Amino acid sequence: MATIKKIFACTNCGATSPKWIGKCPSCAEWNTYVEEVIQKETPREERQKIWKGAKNADPIPTPLSMIRTGTTERLLTPDEELNRVLGGGIVSGSLVLIGGQPGIGKSTLMLQIALGVQAKVLYVSGEESEEQIKMRADRVATKQSDCYILTEISTSKIFQHAQQLEPDLIVIDSIQTLAAPHIDSTPGSISQVRETAGELQRFAKETNIPVFIIGHITKDGAIAGPKLLEHIVDVVLQFEGDQNYMYRILRTLKNRFGSTDEIGIYAMQSTGLREVSNPSELLISQKDEDLSGSAICSTIEGVRPILIETQALVSRAVYGTPQRSATGFDLRRLSMLLAVLEKRGGFPFAMNDVFLNIAGGIRVDDPAIDLAIVAALISSLEDISVPHDTCFAGEVGLSGEIRAVARAEQRIQEADRLGFKEIFISKYNLKGLNLDKFKIKVRTVGKVEELYEALFK
Ligand code: TYD
Ligand code: MG
Repeated sequence: MATIKKIFACTNCGATSPKWIGKCPSCAEWNTYVEEVIQKETPREERQKIWKGAKNADPIPTPLSMIRTGTTERLLTPDEELNRVLGGGIVSGSLVLIGGQPGIGKSTLMLQIALGVQAKVLYVSGEESEEQIKMRADRVATKQSDCYILTEISTSKIFQHAQQLEPDLIVIDSIQTLAAPHIDSTPGSISQVRETAGELQRFAKETNIPVFIIGHITKDGAIAGPKLLEHIVDVVLQFEGDQNYMYRILRTLKNRFGSTDEIGIYAMQSTGLREVSNPSELLISQKDEDLSGSAICSTIEGVRPILIETQALVSRAVYGTPQRSATGFDLRRLSMLLAVLEKRGGFPFAMNDVFLNIAGGIRVDDPAIDLAIVAALISSLEDISVPHDTCFAGEVGLSGEIRAVARAEQRIQEADRLGFKEIFISKYNLKGLNLDKFKIKVRTVGKVEELYEALFK
C-alpha cells in the first residue's frame, strides 16, 4: 500500500502547497485551496496485474530510426465532423478529453459515436443507469453496432472488464465520477481526477486502445477545475453552444495529432445530434424584407468560412445608466466599439440602451465580426436597414480605422457562393486580392465614417 500524504491543492489550476494559502501563487485565484489526500502512483508491476494486455518490458532508450510508426492507424467514425476535428479519425492509443457544460450534449454525442462506429465499443457511465442509456440510444436511433454498456466508477474494475472484452474504443462518462480505489478522496476531487486520468493515459498507451473521456466544465471555462487534465490528455475538444439554441460547436483546443483550427458544427434535435455541413445557410435568417439593426458577417470559425447574422437593438435609455447586453459576443469589446463610434463618428450611444445578439447562440471570437456589429449598431440607431444581400468582414481599431483581416479571399468566396451582392472589407485587405473571379461586388472602407457614408447616406 502506498504511503498517504496530505497536501493542499488549488481547485483552479492544480498547484499544490504543503500549507493552506489564501491566494494561489500560480494562478492568482483566491480561496481555491482545498485539502487533498495524495498517494504515490500505482507501480508498473501492480498496473500490469490490473491489465494483462500491457507491454511487459520496461522502456529502454530506442533510436528514433528504429521506432515503427505502424501504430498510428486511425479509426474512422461515421461522424464526418468529429473525424475532421480529430484530424482524420481516432488515433489508436490516444486519450481524448471532451469538455463542455452540463446538458450541452456530450453524452449524446459520445453515445452516437459509440453506436455508429464499426468497432467494438465499451461505454462506461458513472452518471446514468443502463436503462437511461438505452432510452437515449433508442432516441438517437443510430444503427446499433457492437456497443457494450458498463455502469461502473472504479478504474480497476473498468480495466478488468476492458481486458476481458478487448474493445477497440472506450468512452468514459465522465472523469468526475471515476474513482481509483487506492485513493481515499471522493470522485471529482483533484487527486482522483488527476490519478484516474493518469491511469487512463497509461492504459491507452500500453494497450493501444483509444479512450474518450467526458469532462464537465466549470463556470469559468476551465475543464474540471483542474487544468492539469489538459496536460495529461492528447486531444482536448470543447463542446459548446447555448442550451436555448440548437447549434453546438465542437472545437479543438489541443491536438497532438492534427491542427487545432478545425471545428465541427452540430444541431441538437429531438433525435439526437445531426451534423451541419452547410452552416451559413442556417445561420442567416431567410427573410426578404430589410429590417434595421441586422447585418451579416463573413466570419472564419476554425478554418471554415461561415456567414452569421448579427442583430443590434439601440433604444432610448429609460434609466440613468444605459444598459449594455451581448449574447455570443464579448461585452467589453462591445463597449469598446460603442466608444469608438461615439468618439469618432459622434453617434450618441451613451444615451441609449444597446442589446447585441449573434444568431444561433454561437459565440464568435473572430475580430472580423466588428464591422458587421458596427453596421448593425448604426443601422438600429438610425433606423435605416442594411440591404439583406450585403455582408461585412473587418476589424475595427481604437481610432475607428477598419483593419485588414485574415483569409479575406475565403470570406469573399463564401459570401459570393451564397449569392450575396456586396461585401464590405478593409481597404488594407485589397492588396494581392484577385477579385475577377467573383460575381460579388467588393467595397472597401478605411474608417467607420466611410462605412456610414457608404451605407446610410
Ligand atoms: P446530454 O448528452 O445528457 O448532455 P451532457 O452529457 O453534456 O450533460 O444532453 C442533454 C440535453 O440534450 C438534454 O437537455 C436533452 C437534449 N437532447 C435532445 O434535445 N435530443 C436528443 O435526442 C437527446 C438525446 C438529448
Ligand atoms: Mg452527460
